[in-house]
Amino acid sequence: QKQDDFALMEQVTRFFQHQLKHHKNSTNAIEYLKQRGLSGEIVKQWEIGYAPAEWDAVLSKFGTSSERVQQLLELKLITQNDNGKRYDFFRDRIMFPIRDRRGRVVGFGGRVLTDGGPKYLNSPETRIFHKGHELFGFYQAKNKLRQLDYVMVVEGYMDVVALSQFEINNATAALGTATTPEHLSLLMRSTSTIVCCYDGDRAGRDAAWRALENALPVLKDGVSMKFLFLPDGEDPDTMVRSVGKEALETLIQQAKPLSHFFFESMLKQHQVGTPEGKLALKTAVKPLIEKVLGDNQRALLEEELAKHTGEYDRFRLQQDIRLAQSKS
Ligand code: UTP
Ligand code: MN
Ligand code: MN
Ligand code: MN
Ligand code: MN
Repeated sequence: QKQDDFALMEQVTRFFQHQLKHHKNSTNAIEYLKQRGLSGEIVKQWEIGYAPAEWDAVLSKFGTSSERVQQLLELKLITQNDNGKRYDFFRDRIMFPIRDRRGRVVGFGGRVLTDGGPKYLNSPETRIFHKGHELFGFYQAKNKLRQLDYVMVVEGYMDVVALSQFEINNATAALGTATTPEHLSLLMRSTSTIVCCYDGDRAGRDAAWRALENALPVLKDGVSMKFLFLPDGEDPDTMVRSVGKEALETLIQQAKPLSHFFFESMLKQHQVGTPEGKLALKTAVKPLIEKVLGDNQRALLEEELAKHTGEYDRFRLQQDIRLAQSKS
């Protein structure tokens, strides 16, 4: 059954690619991709396609038996309204196939050509597609690079694709959801450094903090997590196009370590100029630090907290006592 699902998803991927090239009304789609600065080569490499502006392009091509129609419904490639009328889920959209870790197409992201309506439509959850643990571009990154010195986590499909056009091949995107602990622990199995680079807007900054919180319970010793904050209004796609590969890589080198971002945010909320402020900081920070998986990672944050509350010496003393106790 699942094997058959993957085979069908693969065929639908080819179908969308074919429509981009040969459909009589695909000019707008081709123009759109050009206008976004994507080369033909990169479009091919990412298997980007086009879902025609029709109600039954996929349905009529693949719904050749009642079993097939059922399968299309289950894979959410078509949907059905209350009257039982069936129609294509993706219409008049640029299509990005999403491959899982083993390289199988498990879902799609579809972008509108004109701004209006939901900008991106993603495949809903199906028996082969679970958003919380799929990462767009991760399969391609692992395939292309023998060793992942670091992985860049970005927000969007276009960011991953644009970066790869500039030969930054280690970017991956969560699919319109937060970066989950599952995503992060998956990444930590393949790399020792994760650099989160979300959009330079309010949503992006919030996403960065959420990623930090999600990282704590999976943050093991030996991995490092960093954050690169882009100027307001920029995302990795626009950024790499405006400053180029080298300048962006320099910024990536300078990304903020998790501990900096952590305390910077916390100190904005709690002024430590007063004893009350220090107490508030401690109260807010402690439960977060307790979540941290790695002993060394946790100790590092505890030490930072002690510095900010002026309890550093007392903290060291306690540690020395504990150490002495454990030895005796
Ligand atoms: P953005 O709005 O930042 O999109 O959303 P983007 O990738 O920069 O898009 P372009 O450059 O305008 O094409 C980031 C990601 O959030 C998800 C998508 O995965 C998108 O890539 N998203 C966004 C949705 O799922 N639905 C939406 O309506 C918008
Ligand atoms: Mn899965
Ligand atoms: Mn955004
Ligand atoms: Mn963008
Ligand atoms: Mn964006």
